[in-house]
Amino acid sequence: MNGIPQADPCNIVIFGASGDLTRRKLLPALARMRGWNLISPDSRIIGIMRDQAWQLDAWRDYVHESLQEFHAETINDPASWESISAMLELTIGDLTEPSMYQHLRETLKTTNGKANTLFYLAIPPQWYETAVSNLHKSGLLDESDGFRRIVIEKPFGNDLDSACELNRTFREYVKESQIYRIDHYLGKEGVQNLMVFRFANTVFEPLWNRNYIDHVQISVSESIGVEYRAGYYEKSGALMDMIQSHLIQVMTLVAMEAPVSLDGNAVRDEKVKVLKSVRPIPSDQVDQFAVRAQYAGGTIAGKRVPAYRDEPDVNPSSGTETFAALKLYIDNWRWQDVPFLLRTGKRLPDRVSEIAIRFKKPPKNLFSQVEEHLPQNELIFRLHPEEGMIFLLNAKLPGLNDQLRKLALDAPYAVTGSDSPEAYETLLHDALLGQTALFSRADEVEESWRIVAPVMQAWKQHSSIRFYEAGSWDIPDMENMMDGCIGCWRDLSTTYKHGYTSTS
Ligand SMILES: NC(=O)c1ccc[n+]([C@@H]2O[C@H](COP(=O)([O-])OP(=O)(O)OC[C@H]3O[C@@H](n4cnc5c(N)ncnc54)[C@H](OP(=O)(O)O)[C@@H]3O)[C@@H](O)[C@H]2O)c1
Repeated sequence: MNGIPQADPCNIVIFGASGDLTRRKLLPALARMRGWNLISPDSRIIGIMRDQAWQLDAWRDYVHESLQEFHAETINDPASWESISAMLELTIGDLTEPSMYQHLRETLKTTNGKANTLFYLAIPPQWYETAVSNLHKSGLLDESDGFRRIVIEKPFGNDLDSACELNRTFREYVKESQIYRIDHYLGKEGVQNLMVFRFANTVFEPLWNRNYIDHVQISVSESIGVEYRAGYYEKSGALMDMIQSHLIQVMTLVAMEAPVSLDGNAVRDEKVKVLKSVRPIPSDQVDQFAVRAQYAGGTIAGKRVPAYRDEPDVNPSSGTETFAALKLYIDNWRWQDVPFLLRTGKRLPDRVSEIAIRFKKPPKNLFSQVEEHLPQNELIFRLHPEEGMIFLLNAKLPGLNDQLRKLALDAPYAVTGSDSPEAYETLLHDALLGQTALFSRADEVEESWRIVAPVMQAWKQHSSIRFYEAGSWDIPDMENMMDGCIGCWRDLSTTYKHGYTSTS
């Protein structure tokens, strides 16, 4: 990739090498990074397997099969496969056993006097502490001969107390600068582009405040159901799975002040200021600020789909929410009284992710004869499908008439033929380079748990849940959240082509 630096040689150690995340995300990401020459051929990919039956050949076959399924380009090109295959190493042992760490130490490769190592914890969260304390005890986190970094997957804790406790525990063994908490949403091109649009252009800044913006809508809608993740999802639900992490992170990028630099701590300092300014949701008024619901059976793309409670491994009387929405206020000079509306759900009609900035109306409608209600201007950062930016303006329809139409300025990010990285490639590469801006710091994680804590508490106390039909946007009480905002929730099924569309 043009101008993108290759990371120094590194031992990439994967705890949970036989797991789903490794197979579907990490191995394809590493193969693509190697293909782009972002990883040095002197690096190692060391899988940790606890089953004694594993051999190096079997690990190579496993990687081959995973890539065949999720990134066949590497397999179809013998030189690419050879280059990845030569990097593979294996360490056998259980992460609870000190002897495993001794074997691991013997596998680490030193290049140019350095044994740089990235430990990727792709393991169930209950094992994070065991793995980190054992790495510490075995001296594997000592940075005297190269960096030692730990990548941790979400969820980081399952409420405010557990996240604080995990942070406290980690501080005993490792410096904050060595921890890379992944939120893969921050690795998405569209999300990174938000920072560029805001801080590499001057045109948005004068408008980017309570004087011009009525409200912000951040939406992530999925058409799939819980699929094979019921074991995890039953304990989390949409609020914890999506809003506490991804959507609140995206909100901070919309709302933050310009950092003094792109240094990781400078960016995260600004994001934390936003989180600390979020008005606490009063525990006795949660219903005014939060909505939850669960999908019943319905039809999506002409196919009947079951209710959440009828999905495999779901409790038939489950109270888990598959849709959640929050209305947040950021109490500072820029955003005072501007609602930030966050919504996400499964089994909705379309798979769409976007950030929509809705502007205020003109002070007087000079065109009321032809358009009684002028549509508001909207700036939409689309994350899926087709990452890009759309600006909705009002314009005169060309020709001998006085009609108005919405003019959609649609700027897709992707250039035809370009090869955009996936989120995991961006994040793994940043972790190898020691760039921390796209990873969550301890205080960020704690603050976002603080924001959702009153809602979690209230929903735990009142477990009754309402339902929506799969494939519909008819979510009980969702429209009530628009009180005090101009217009309705955006219709996510509308696609805009560059040019004129009807204002209605
Ligand atoms: N999968 C995803 O798409 C996804 C997305 C976001 C976040 N995450 C997070 O990523 C992490 C891994 O998820 P996953 O879906 O890959 O889980 P998974 O498929 O259940 O895999 C768990 C891995 O951990 C290993 N493991 C468990 N206990 C171990 C021990 N005592 N010693 C050594 N290895 C042990 C397992 O080895 P065995 O094969 O020997 O059991 C397996 O390789 C979780 O924290 C999850 O929340 C996953």
